Amino acid sequence: ARTTVGIIGGGPAGLLLARLLHRAGVDSVVLERCDRAYVEQRQRAGILEQATVDVLREVGAGERMDHEGLVHHGIELRFDGRAHRIDFPGLACGRSVMVYAQTEVVKDLIALQLAQGGPLLFEAEVSRVTGTDTDSPVIHYRHEGQDRTLACDAVVGCDGFHGVARNVFDGPRVFERTYPYSWLGILADAPPSYDELIYAHSERGFALASMRTPTVSRLYLQVPNGTDPASWSDGQIWDELDFRVATKMNRGAIMQKSVLPMRSFVSEPMRSGSLYLAGDAAHIVPPTGAKGLNLAITDVVVLARALAHRQATGETALLDSYSADSLRRVWRAEHFSYFMTSTLHTAPDQSPFETRLQLAQLDRIASSPHAAAELAENYTGLPLRP
Ligand code: FAD
Ligand code: DHB
Repeated sequence: ARTTVGIIGGGPAGLLLARLLHRAGVDSVVLERCDRAYVEQRQRAGILEQATVDVLREVGAGERMDHEGLVHHGIELRFDGRAHRIDFPGLACGRSVMVYAQTEVVKDLIALQLAQGGPLLFEAEVSRVTGTDTDSPVIHYRHEGQDRTLACDAVVGCDGFHGVARNVFDGPRVFERTYPYSWLGILADAPPSYDELIYAHSERGFALASMRTPTVSRLYLQVPNGTDPASWSDGQIWDELDFRVATKMNRGAIMQKSVLPMRSFVSEPMRSGSLYLAGDAAHIVPPTGAKGLNLAITDVVVLARALAHRQATGETALLDSYSADSLRRVWRAEHFSYFMTSTLHTAPDQSPFETRLQLAQLDRIASSPHAAAELAENYTGLPLRP
């Protein structure tokens, strides 16, 4: 088989790339290792930046999002017995964010692609990519019990952090940081206790009160690395949230409980010959800045434009600058995610001096519109070209 762009991975990056290419008249095939139900249920991100919302509307995936998504004009920071609201539109040129779960974005994109788009194969596991130093790379995969190949003009690795595309790179430069804490995340059948997200610094560690719908809460607690989710009873989780968020939370049945490790990771460059990387395949951020999903989306917006431009004009300038342009944006998001994470969490060996520095930084954000604007601009999303 042959196509113009072979896409490895049917997460948000791969699915949106296929939509954007389809609309630009560029053929593609998406190969996804897991089955459809699994991809649609995987509980992950919940916050869409303005630019992500805009592109989902543009590709026709905005209808349910605009109906069911919750527009948020700010977040609240809690620390040292104080509560401070960050007003997004006022501080970040009118921008806001949307609460709409990654699971729902993925469902909407899959439905569209299957109804009108190139092939999207589930349970198609890619083992390797060959010929990336030529204009005719080949993807090797297994589908319906058979080994198959897909010849392409370009291959895009959208196969996430544990994917195979990155392995093709000859001597990539890898930058990595692990954090000395994880998040215990729960999904609860309980109305959110507050109408915006609360990011809470406390003497017992970080907590985040988020939501999925007006009746479902998504809540996170900082926990030590290696924590077994089963070691926290439901009652303990609610008591700890009440303490750290400094609010009596609305309680309800806990439907899911899991522990997420935290990592920063960048693999440079994001291109090797005719193979391009996008999303988590190339970079990971700790989740505190809500950037992971949004960064994956911006990567493929830029890449789709460059691939369409080459097909229309034969010019490769946009493709040639993809890696360098994207890395600049990626490193901005890496810095913001690191900043939010290290300002709000309590490291196991943290000294009282370091805690005072965190509180001084939070106080600065609460008292200076300039400092607050820096947070609001980063949180609601930076321009495609920084
Ligand atoms: P993915 O969503 O990982 O998609 C990659 C796809 O490739 C998967 O469907 C995978 O099955 C497929 N694949 C992998 N290998 C192969 C192969 N060999 N062949 C074929 N297919 C393959 N971000 C936030 O902003 N907020 C959050 O709260 C948040 N929580 C997260 C929680 C978890 C547990 C994780 C893992 C991530 C979280 N993120 C969060 C990050 C965000 O979900 C990711 O940044 C986003 O999913 C990136 O999209 P992607 O399409 O690049 O990668
Ligand atoms: C969610 C996750 C985040 O990491 C974040 O910063 C905000 C919201 C969420 O899952 O709702």
